[in-house]
Amino acid sequence: MFPPAGDGMWLKYVHVGCAILSVSGYFLRGVWMLRDSPMLRRLWVRVAPHVIDTLLLLSALLLAVRIGQYPFVHGWLTAKVLGVVAYIVLGSIGLKRGRTRGVRIAAWLAALIVFAYIVGVALTRSASLGLL
Ligand code: HEM
Repeated sequence: MFPPAGDGMWLKYVHVGCAILSVSGYFLRGVWMLRDSPMLRRLWVRVAPHVIDTLLLLSALLLAVRIGQYPFVHGWLTAKVLGVVAYIVLGSIGLKRGRTRGVRIAAWLAALIVFAYIVGVALTRSASLGLL
């Protein structure tokens, strides 16, 4: 998965690096949510995820152009885009919008599962994770 940098590999490193930062940050904010931590209200904690997710999507776009495969043309990239939308929606229910603690925890866990699915799709280049 990680040949030496060079020949444009840096772009994939940026993409995968942002994906790791995105999910680690999301996990941590979930833990803070469960503990009602004041950390969640810090400015950098609220801003950093937007910067990271923007870089994640920008690098995704550039990678797609580079390999000439596109969402809504190639199934696995469609699955990734829909997966990201689900991750964002569930993520915002999990960290903010969920009315009760139970709803927030369920949405938080579901978002983490969706994230794992997206990684599976990325590695297998298959929406069905190569299982079908
Ligand atoms: C949470 C969101 C995402 C995660 C966790 C993620 C994860 C990954 C990973 C791990 C790889 C490296 C796979 C490998 O080469 O072994 C990758 C590559 C790639 N991803 Fe994503 N990705 C995400 C979002 C997206 C989105 C929304 C797109 C839509 C265009 C996208 C397009 C691509 C492309 C085109 C590659 C390069 C494939 C290649 O060069 O062989 N990713 N992604």
